[in-house]
Amino acid sequence: MKNHFSRVGFILAAAGSAVGLGNIWKFPYVTGEYGGGAFVLVYLLAILFIGLTVFLAEAVIGQNAQSDVATSFIKTSKSKNQNWKFAGFIIFSGLIVLSFYSVVLGWILNYVFTSFGTLPSDSKAAGSAFETLISKDIASQIIYHTVIAGSVIFIVLKGIKRGIEKINLILMPLLGLILLGLLFYSFTLDSFSTALNFMFYPDWSKIDSNALLAALGQAFFTLSLGVGAIMTYSASLPKNANFVKSSIIVAIVDTAIAITAGLIIFSFLFEAGAQSSAGPGLVFISLPVIFSGWGVLGQVISISFFVALVFAGITSAVSMIEPSLKFFIERFNFTRKKATILCGSIFYILGIIALLSMTIAFKDSLTFFGKNAFDWMDFMTSSVMMPLAAILTCVFLGYFVDKELLRRIFTAHVSLTVFNIWYFLIKFIVPIAIITLFLNKLGII
Ligand code: PHE
Repeated sequence: MKNHFSRVGFILAAAGSAVGLGNIWKFPYVTGEYGGGAFVLVYLLAILFIGLTVFLAEAVIGQNAQSDVATSFIKTSKSKNQNWKFAGFIIFSGLIVLSFYSVVLGWILNYVFTSFGTLPSDSKAAGSAFETLISKDIASQIIYHTVIAGSVIFIVLKGIKRGIEKINLILMPLLGLILLGLLFYSFTLDSFSTALNFMFYPDWSKIDSNALLAALGQAFFTLSLGVGAIMTYSASLPKNANFVKSSIIVAIVDTAIAITAGLIIFSFLFEAGAQSSAGPGLVFISLPVIFSGWGVLGQVISISFFVALVFAGITSAVSMIEPSLKFFIERFNFTRKKATILCGSIFYILGIIALLSMTIAFKDSLTFFGKNAFDWMDFMTSSVMMPLAAILTCVFLGYFVDKELLRRIFTAHVSLTVFNIWYFLIKFIVPIAIITLFLNKLGII
């Protein structure tokens, strides 16, 4: 079918969506902040029991309805009540995430270019280079954001098959190759075993409710849940394709890549005797200093590393805008071009606001209630809208959809027992877990 994925195409595109900055940038630094092993274990449990369950939930709705997110909710519901269209609000989180994601990808692009020149040789210089980029260099940030936004728009304009599937077919194998190369290099370092130990030897004293929350949030973000991305991609999956198997493969690939990225980065850090708990600056400040100490080889590694991040990020970025495009195309009869211009402009402008809000010149006018616009967009999506969307999806499937329908779809691919476990998780366990953590995060309990 013209606008459908092939089976492999779907797996690649969904894996492309899942594998992103969340795996290579965020997972290592959050793991570092929470002390390693125990956090990794909690994260793996969160992926297995909660992430994968919600992933399957989005996939089953999408594949069953084969429509945009709003229409999919209506079509899948027992009542076919038109008000389910309001559930379609979740697609806008994708646009908001995309706006600051594009800015961060822009910084990474900047690091690809800097890697060709001289890298900073100590952490003070590296810190101030990063600081200067985000707080003073408005022109460069706008240029990089424009290049990234332009590429995303260019890809999605071509559609599912010729745009999204094709770019994933090219970039995902390249990403895999670069990461394998970096992993082999880290095998040769003495610090590899220290990194292994750090990531797999649990220190339970570091685990508190914040760590649980971070693990759950990370599981959702890394699997691209709560913005309708997986629902929208699954809507372009042929009706008889085995969505359960594909979903499991995607979750495994995503997890394997996060762990690989962690092992690579911690081996590098420990080899140089650097701290693992540097936070978001880990890849922007700590790594360049290490690469600079390795001479030309360090430069090659630096370029490969940041290029890998750009590839991973671009394939995620296209999946953040697609739910909105499909929404406008199917519900408002927009052409793909018109939908892309509209949604592209929205995220591009929001991105500019996000980046300006971190600069010295505009910080004051773009800070509201103590948070700048960038942090607000991050907070509103990952702490509010995405968990809400996940709760909504679970409650919807557990209470407003015919169980027989779900059983029929699932048991075409898996046993009744597997379906029953999934249904129990979706109906009771996952919503309770998310609601508890959500209220805790907002400081209510
Ligand atoms: N999963 C992507 C990452 O790990 C981020 C993402 C979130 C992509 C939401 C699509 C939708 O970087």
